[in-house]
Order: sequence, then C-alpha cells, then structure tokens
Amino acid sequence: MNQIPALLKSFISSVTPKLIRYASTASTPAHTKRVAVLGASGGIGQPLSLLLKLSPLISDLSLYDIQHTKGVGADLSHIETRAKVKAYVGKDELADALKGMDLVVIPAGVPRKPGMTRDDLFNTNATIVADLVTACAKNCPRAVIAIIANPVNSTVPIAAEVMKAHNVYDEKKIVGVTTLDVVRASTFVAEAKGLDPTRVFVPVIGGHSGNTIIPLLSQVSPPVSFSQQELTTLTNRIQN
Ligand SMILES: NC(=O)c1ccc[n+]([C@@H]2O[C@H](COP(=O)([O-])OP(=O)(O)OC[C@H]3O[C@@H](n4cnc5c(N)ncnc54)[C@H](O)[C@@H]3O)[C@@H](O)[C@H]2O)c1
Repeated sequence: MNQIPALLKSFISSVTPKLIRYASTASTPAHTKRVAVLGASGGIGQPLSLLLKLSPLISDLSLYDIQHTKGVGADLSHIETRAKVKAYVGKDELADALKGMDLVVIPAGVPRKPGMTRDDLFNTNATIVADLVTACAKNCPRAVIAIIANPVNSTVPIAAEVMKAHNVYDEKKIVGVTTLDVVRASTFVAEAKGLDPTRVFVPVIGGHSGNTIIPLLSQVSPPVSFSQQELTTLTNRIQN
C-alpha cells in the first residue's frame, strides 16, 4: 500500500495527463453509470479502477476488496474527474458496495503463478466468484456482471448458475472479459509484421484458456499474409 500514491502519481503524470484533461472537460453524458469493482486492490483491480475513475461515463465508482481498499479509494478520489469514489473492505461491507450498481466488474481472485494454466485456478476462484455473484443477485440483480477472474471459461457459467438459482438470470447481463486476447493478438501481429499496433485489429473468438482462444489470423485488418510457421508461432503465443 505504501507504494500506491507514488505509483499512481507517476502513472498519472507520465501516461495519462491528456486522458485526465479529456475526462474532466468532456460534457456530462446523459446516462452516467454506477460501477463496482470487486477485487479493487489487486494487480488488475487497481489500474482498472484508475481507468474507470477517468471515464466521463461513470458517476459512481464503488471499490470493494477484502484488503487495502480504503487506501486505494482515497488515492483515486483525489483525481479531478466526476466519478465519486467509495471504498468498501471486508464481507460486512459487500452488500453496501453493490446496492444500486449498473455494472459490476470482478477481478477478485488468485492469479496464475509461473507454470500454471488458467484452469489451475478453478478451485480457489470458483468459490470466490460464486460468493461475489451471490451478493450481486441479492443486492443488484439487474446489473451487468463482467467477470475477469480466471478461469473465465468456468467462472462465467458459475455466475450464470448462481443467478439462475436466485431467479434473476439474464443471459445478456453476464459477460467474460477476454479483451486481453484481442489486445495481445493485435500487438503480436503488429510486432511480427513491423506494423503500427494502433492500426492493427485481430478478431479473436472462442474462450479464454489455451486452445479455446481462437485468433482469426485470416481476418486481420489491414489484411496480412502469414507463413505456416508464423501462423503456428503467433497462435501459440496468443493462446498462452
Ligand atoms: N480475463 C483476463 O483477461 C485476465 C487478465 C489478467 C488476470 N486475470 C485474472 O484476474 C484475477 C486477478 O488477478 P490479479 O493479478 O489482479 O491478482 P491479485 O492477487 O493481484 O489481486 C486479486 C485481488 O482479489 C482480492 N480478493 C481475493 N479474494 C477476494 C474476495 N473474496 N472478495 C474480494 N476480493 C478478493 C485480493 O485481496 C486481491 O486484492 C486472476 O484470477 C487472474 O487470473 C484475468
């Protein structure tokens, strides 16, 4: 925690000043949203919460974790953008963190260690996600739930079953976050072909684990051709 203010300061001052200026001057959208991040103190949760704090689309940002959220929330609340930040720590505060939310993003859980697959995380993260989604079903049943915690291929169906059990399931409102695969695919293809990564787009379909991740290398924009060796190497790199 001690490093967070310094980290945030250097990140904000070096990487995002234009974005912050944009966020603080952009006109208020008609429908701003209330967003909760569950697991807000972690390696994914902190930078995600920072980016959400910069969005002019968000009116309220609710940060929940089992540790450190108060410090993270205090740091983010100092950024001069519209979203009002509230921090919640520990199970007793979970319900309050969720009430009235339109969107709940869930990066809570254990990350991979070297040599682990995403599926190795199942035992720990399945329980964490099931508990958190149960709280969503009770406190914000109409919210969209976006699941980052791995294995996404399994945590999304678990979330669906929890919502079904509480009679509040809506298939359009539970999503797995796999943007990482698209971003990495575009970056790796740009690297391999000497292209500007900001102008390359690689559609990726399927799931979010090993060979369920299917980069559509025949559909890259702008069109690019690959040797069989490049196809194998790139596909393997994107999937793992
Ligand atoms: N979908 C993706 O593209 C993608 C990308 C990166 C990481 N991930 C996954 O995201 C998850 C988090 O990764 P990380 O690097 O942030 O891990 P991390 O260990 O840095 O952070 C996890 C956070 O979750 C919190 N947490 C644990 N149990 C909780 C609970 N019951 N309620 C609330 N918070 C809880 C921890 O306190 C911690 O702050 C992992 O499962 C990882 O595999 C997914």
